[in-house]
Amino acid sequence: MKALVLSGGAGTRLRPITHTSAKQLVPVANKPVLFYGLEAIADAGITEVGVIVGDTEGEIREAVGDGSRFGLDVTYLRQDAPLGLAHAVLIAREFLGDDDFVMYLGDNFIVGGITTLVDGFREDRPDAQILLTKVPNPTSFGVAELDVNGMVVALEEKPAEPKSDLALVGVYLFTAAIHEAVRSITPSWRGELEITHAIQWLIDQSHDVRSTTISGYWKDTGNVTDMLEVNRSVLETIEACCEGTVDEHTEIIGRVRIEKGAQITGSRIVGPAIIGASTVISDSYIGPSTSVSEGCRIQDCEVEYSIVLRGASLAGVRRVEASLIGRDVEVTPAPRNPSAHRLVLGDHSKVQISS
Ligand code: G1P
Repeated sequence: MKALVLSGGAGTRLRPITHTSAKQLVPVANKPVLFYGLEAIADAGITEVGVIVGDTEGEIREAVGDGSRFGLDVTYLRQDAPLGLAHAVLIAREFLGDDDFVMYLGDNFIVGGITTLVDGFREDRPDAQILLTKVPNPTSFGVAELDVNGMVVALEEKPAEPKSDLALVGVYLFTAAIHEAVRSITPSWRGELEITHAIQWLIDQSHDVRSTTISGYWKDTGNVTDMLEVNRSVLETIEACCEGTVDEHTEIIGRVRIEKGAQITGSRIVGPAIIGASTVISDSYIGPSTSVSEGCRIQDCEVEYSIVLRGASLAGVRRVEASLIGRDVEVTPAPRNPSAHRLVLGDHSKVQISS
C-alpha cells in the first residue's frame, strides 16, 4: 500500500498567515500540520509516499526532505496548477501503479492517526473508503448523504444547501478502481477535477464505497478559533522537558516544553505550553495553551491561549489572548504622545483592540 499526500494549493483560507507560506506548514503545537499526517502514515506501516506539490514546492521539500526522518521514502510529484484532488490522482498514476493507496490531504489533522482505518481497509478492500465527520459549516466541505442503513448514496462538493452535516474528511482509501473514475469525470464549477465526483462515479457504477464517521478532526477553514482549539488539544498531550535555560527567577508550572537554546528569565510559564528553540522570554507571563515558535522574543508581556509564529517579537504588551501572531511580526507599545494605535498591517490582517 502507498500514500499520496497532497501539499499543493493556494491556502487562501488562513490569510494572512498563508500569504507567505504553505498551508500544510501551519504549525500545531510548533509542528507543521503536514508532519502529523506523515507520522500517521508511517505509523500505519506505509513507507512509499508520493507528495503532490505546487507553487510552494520549495518550502515543502525543505521541510520534508527525502522523508527518512519520518521513516518514509518520499517521491515528489509536481502539479503545475491546482486543478483538483482527482487531478492529483491522475498525475500520480505512474507512481501509484495498481497499488491500493491512502490519499491524505496535507492540511487535515486527524486526532488518533489512521492505523485502525488502514488496517480495516487492508482486510476488507472495498473499492473506496471515505471518512466523514460532523461539522458546523458543511458548505465549506464535500458533504455526504447517507441512507437509513448508513450507506453513502450521494456526495456533493461545497453544496449551498447541504443535505447533511457530514463532511468528507481529507483522508480517502482507494483501490486501483479510482483511476477509471478520475478519468471519467469533468471539471466542476470551480474548474477542478473533484475527488468527490470521482467517488460519486464509483457509487453510480455500483462499486463498493464505504464510510466511517470519526470525531477529532481539524482543517484550516480559515477559522483562527478552531486553530487555537486544535493547538490547545495537542498541547494537552505534550510531555514536560527543558532543553533550554531557565533562570532562578523563573517559575515553570505544569507541563511546559522548552526547546533547544530557549532562554527564559524572570518569567512565569504555566503549561501546557511550548517555547520554541532559541526563543528568548524575559519578565513575562506565558499562560496555558500557548505555543511560541522558534526564534521569538517576548519581553515584559502577558500571552495566553495563543500561537506565536517564528521570529515574532512582542515587547511591553499585555495582555494578549486568543491570538495568532504571524512570522516576524513585531508588537510594541506606541510612543506616549500622541496617544494612538499605530498599525502597519498586511492585507487580510485582523486586529481587535481593547481600549
Ligand atoms: C477538499 C475536498 C472536500 C473535503 C475537504 C477536506 O476541499 O474537495 O470534499 O471535504 O478537502 O479537507 P478543498 O480543501 O479542496 O476545498
